Amino acid sequence: MDINKGKILVTGGLGFIGSHTVVELIAAGYEVVIADDLSNAQLFILDNIEKISNAKPSFYQIDVADKISLSGVLNKEKNIDAVIHFAAFKAVGESVKEPLKYFRNNLYSLINLLECMNEKQISNIVFSSSATVYGDPDKSPVTETTPFKKALSAYGSTKQTGEDILEKVAATKSVNAISLRYFNPVGAHSSALLGELPLGIPNNLLPFVTQTAAGLREKLTVYGNDYNTPDGTCIRDYIHVVDLAKAHVKSCDRLLQNQQKNNYEVFNIGTGNGVSVLEVIQAFEKYNNLKLNYSIGAKREGDAAVMYADTALAESKLGWKATLDMGEMVTSAWKWQLYIRQHKLN
Ligand code: WQD
Repeated sequence: MDINKGKILVTGGLGFIGSHTVVELIAAGYEVVIADDLSNAQLFILDNIEKISNAKPSFYQIDVADKISLSGVLNKEKNIDAVIHFAAFKAVGESVKEPLKYFRNNLYSLINLLECMNEKQISNIVFSSSATVYGDPDKSPVTETTPFKKALSAYGSTKQTGEDILEKVAATKSVNAISLRYFNPVGAHSSALLGELPLGIPNNLLPFVTQTAAGLREKLTVYGNDYNTPDGTCIRDYIHVVDLAKAHVKSCDRLLQNQQKNNYEVFNIGTGNGVSVLEVIQAFEKYNNLKLNYSIGAKREGDAAVMYADTALAESKLGWKATLDMGEMVTSAWKWQLYIRQHKLN
């Protein structure tokens, strides 16, 4: 582990992707400060980060959209070199029902953060964006220059707008920014001490699969099998959350070592492989030696048939490439589900 490469504020740092990123930042030699309002995270995750990393990051339970709270953290925590901004609501379906809740939280948090960074002369930010910004692309693999379709949800709109805000603020040279467009983050830490903690009924495929296998859900419904794909089910680019976390460390390295060619950059973060829903189910059953109870149901509105990443830019500029395969994704996700059940955490 390198010593003291810099000090990083991670907003939403106790969440699914945030907590895995904190562990990788510490392992890479960064000092970490976490700000999280615990609206979609639980405090035991901080203890588990300490168990994995032998280090306990400073933690502040605050709303990043609240200027007084965030300024208070930045007054206490001097010499922050960069911010990784995860703190946002991310349930696509909920955002359709409650758009203002999403616009207020996701955009106010980013705007407040950028204003506070400006006041404290913090000039580096990594932004948690999403492949959702592309909408339903005409073809895959998707490159960073694939034009955006109109966002299908308020959530997607906040990611498109968030990137636009960053691009325009970076153009004033007051910040250096990297937006990472995540494809489908899945899996859990190999220790089974970190993983996804969906609130209520999971929207996403893999937590629904693991909860069904654990007996928490009666069965999985596959949303449609008559898409124009080899087995009729939707194709996505599933990426292990630990690989995704490492892309954030590479982004901090790039910013702090002044390696950027221009001060606003965007990278697709996926594996570059398209995998169907049925292939995920088959891998889950095979690698965990389980039978999953599922049936085919109606298509889910808004689902793209095929979406996977062209990751050439992240490989060449960030020096980052995903290495963990579907077997590791489905076995780590299952081990985490068993940990949750054993510790009665859901
Ligand atoms: C994957 C596939 C479903 C559940 C979403 C967000 C995106 C990002 C990742 C935040 C689809 C199918 C799912 C189920 C199913 N989140 N499915 N039965 O929709 O690709 O992306 O999560 O950034 O913004 O849009 O992921 O996991 O919901 O679905 O058949 O019970 O699994 O139809 O084809 P998605 P997902």
